[in-house]
Amino acid sequence: MQTIRAVDWSSDGVAVRIIDQRRLPGEFVERDLATLDEICDAIRTLAVRGAPAIGVAGAMGMVVALSAFTDEPPARFRERVRSVGATIRATRPTAVNLPWAIDRMLRAAAASTNSPHVIVDALRAEATSIRDEDRAMCERIGMNGLPLLPDGARVLTHCNAGALATAGIGTALAPVYLAAAAGRRIEVFADETRPLLQGSRLTSWELTRAGIPVTVIADNMAASLMRAGRIDLCIVGADRIARNGDVANKVGTYGVAVAAHHHGIPFYVAAPWSTFDPATPHGGAIEIEQRNADEIRCGFGPLTATPEAAVYNPAFDVTPSALITAIVSDRGVHRPPYDFAPTPLPTAAAVA
Ligand code: MRU
Repeated sequence: MQTIRAVDWSSDGVAVRIIDQRRLPGEFVERDLATLDEICDAIRTLAVRGAPAIGVAGAMGMVVALSAFTDEPPARFRERVRSVGATIRATRPTAVNLPWAIDRMLRAAAASTNSPHVIVDALRAEATSIRDEDRAMCERIGMNGLPLLPDGARVLTHCNAGALATAGIGTALAPVYLAAAAGRRIEVFADETRPLLQGSRLTSWELTRAGIPVTVIADNMAASLMRAGRIDLCIVGADRIARNGDVANKVGTYGVAVAAHHHGIPFYVAAPWSTFDPATPHGGAIEIEQRNADEIRCGFGPLTATPEAAVYNPAFDVTPSALITAIVSDRGVHRPPYDFAPTPLPTAAAVA
């Protein structure tokens, strides 16, 4: 089973240790992030990426960034807690896991005593809980999604929603890992995922490492593979799930969902409860991150578009809930009509 640790404490506990995903699949390099700038830069540049992983990195990053200031007077330190949280929160706007984790950290700080040392200890405990809960949620997503993957299933996925995107075994890939561990023959088709190639660089790397057969395809192949009867189901991750079940995920997800719907192929989304955002009524209210044009013009070196041409580079798109067969979370398998109301939270029994 997986031993990838995309984000964790460094061995001495003073930094956030990540796998630098910009270097994969060519090089496996771990980096210790020891300052606020290093943490924000790693999140912005996708050295650490994937909705759950940036939540965990952001929470741990607050501890690292605040640890150097415990000699400050309490009032000044509390102000610093707020500003560090705001700085990390602003690094990427779409995945709700990041503000969800930062808000948890701010609540933990608010509940603590006035001593900066005690506050940092409380924050470290909270960040560790966020990491551990993420691992546990990944396992439960895997268990809940397992019945959806019969022996011999041919699975299409988009982007990377595996171990590299979480603190655990992933979300969309969690059922794949558990099905393979249970002896089922699973074959994965990984969309390469333009422009930053998370599918071909990352999904193929981690599945190969786990001994699970994976075939990388150009994004524009997915629909014709479906038409040829070579895909049994699609499963992707999510960056934010609105109250009505609309899902923001890596740009290109919507096209996969449209093609799957046209061909009558189940389209599943897998996500931990930290990705659900009941405060957002529908997908149109989700802020979509716009990224640098050079990711499309020359993301990996040589120019692939004339420099004079305008470039439009949203990192995510929204898949309407009507195209989603089911959403697999750590709490169960949710089927339409979706209504992820703020309270009360559905129990596993209510949604299974
Ligand atoms: O820009 P990225 O690589 O952070 O985008 C990641 C995705 O879109 C994933 O599918 C999503 O975060 C789910 S990860 C479990």
